[in-house]
Amino acid sequence: MSETTRFPEGFLWGAATSAYQVEGSPLADGAGPSIWHRFSHTPGRTHNGETGDVACDHYRRYASDVALLHELGLSAYRFSISWSRILPAGRGAVNPHGLAFYERLTDALLAHGIQPVVTLYHWDLPAALDDLGGWLNPDVADWFADYARVAFRALGDRVPLWATLNEPWVVADGGYLHGLLAPGHKSLSEAPHVSHNLLRAHGTAVQAYRAEGKRQIGLVLNLEPKHPASSAPADVAATRRADAYMNRHYLEPVLSGAYPGELAEIFGDAWPDFPEADLRLIRQPIDFLGVNYYTRGVTRHDETALPLRATTERQPRSVYTETGWEVYPPGLSETLLWVRQRAGDLPLYVTENGAAFPDPPRSLNGRVEDPLRVEYYRGHLRAALDAIRRGVNLRGYFAWSLLDNYEWSYGYSKRFGIVHVDFETQRRTPKASARFYADVVRTGGAALSAPTAAPA
Ligand code: BGC
Repeated sequence: MSETTRFPEGFLWGAATSAYQVEGSPLADGAGPSIWHRFSHTPGRTHNGETGDVACDHYRRYASDVALLHELGLSAYRFSISWSRILPAGRGAVNPHGLAFYERLTDALLAHGIQPVVTLYHWDLPAALDDLGGWLNPDVADWFADYARVAFRALGDRVPLWATLNEPWVVADGGYLHGLLAPGHKSLSEAPHVSHNLLRAHGTAVQAYRAEGKRQIGLVLNLEPKHPASSAPADVAATRRADAYMNRHYLEPVLSGAYPGELAEIFGDAWPDFPEADLRLIRQPIDFLGVNYYTRGVTRHDETALPLRATTERQPRSVYTETGWEVYPPGLSETLLWVRQRAGDLPLYVTENGAAFPDPPRSLNGRVEDPLRVEYYRGHLRAALDAIRRGVNLRGYFAWSLLDNYEWSYGYSKRFGIVHVDFETQRRTPKASARFYADVVRTGGAALSAPTAAPA
């Protein structure tokens, strides 16, 4: 077998989760509520009114979950810190019990030889800060840096990779423009300010890290290639807008200190004139970029879909996931190469990749067969390897998610885990996809070349 079927030495093999989606016990041991606690407890906001009150009970079961990561042979775990667990009011007094949880988790990972990869913000702003305007208040950038400093001081000696924000596009688009995610605002004029303050917060946190941290800090963006549904000029222009809105909106200011010109076209009068000094703050050198990749967007011009005037068109011959996303593995290599063109040799990580499918129940022999997810991973891991062959400096890959968990407004109705969770008993059962992934990890990628196995 040739060398090119293998991932490089030292490649990080991981799985990812986020605090509100897995921890449960949101108010335990002195923690303060987050906007997700508040949103999920507001009638009508989530599927069946489901909340993260229990989720995967990871707050109490973290040690056995770490043992599970170890059994799967993984070398990294990406988790996020709940800001209001360690600063219950978002700023001011530190809650030592909250901090102690993340120290225990980090130490358990290190004891198993697993690298902790920490995200500082995965959508769960302290509710007390939302009361002060949340991401709309320009002071949020300083609040975030103060919080980040607390985390760096407590864990910095043990955590080699830090991410400031997870998917700022989703925070602004889902939380402030379309209102489907916390805090549930629907405002064209708020969204650009929220994106800008998120990016300013990223900048201040990177500066804080440079003052005291010695390892690596970066940002996690959700990126997807936008392809025109036809060669008609209107569809091509819509595709350019969609790409600017989701992808370049965040990457360009971070890498080059400027927003794409299309944003003024999309937001019209609601697009502010941001000060140059802010853009200099946003453009901090980063050590890596995390790419969350799920799907692509085949884009059609649509006057009614505001503000973008573009919609994603369904592809009749493609497989779709339960969240309505087209399965499109070549988009992962395309995305990584696209980033390489802009960011050069900057180290990249696939910080999330995965799919929700309606899994069959656990069988009598205790197995959960999820062949569609196995194929999803096979295709995307091959695409990751292809990107490496084509010169992308890819340093690691994280499956989303380790566990079936709380899928935000969808509640528990969508399962993304490679490990099945029975939410009645909290029993964990690695699915066929976990076994497949473990084989890929164990063989350094060689298992990807094996012919598709017959179902067990
Ligand atoms: C988010 C996760 C989410 C996943 C699947 C990503 O956008 O970072 O929190 O569960 O997608 O929807």
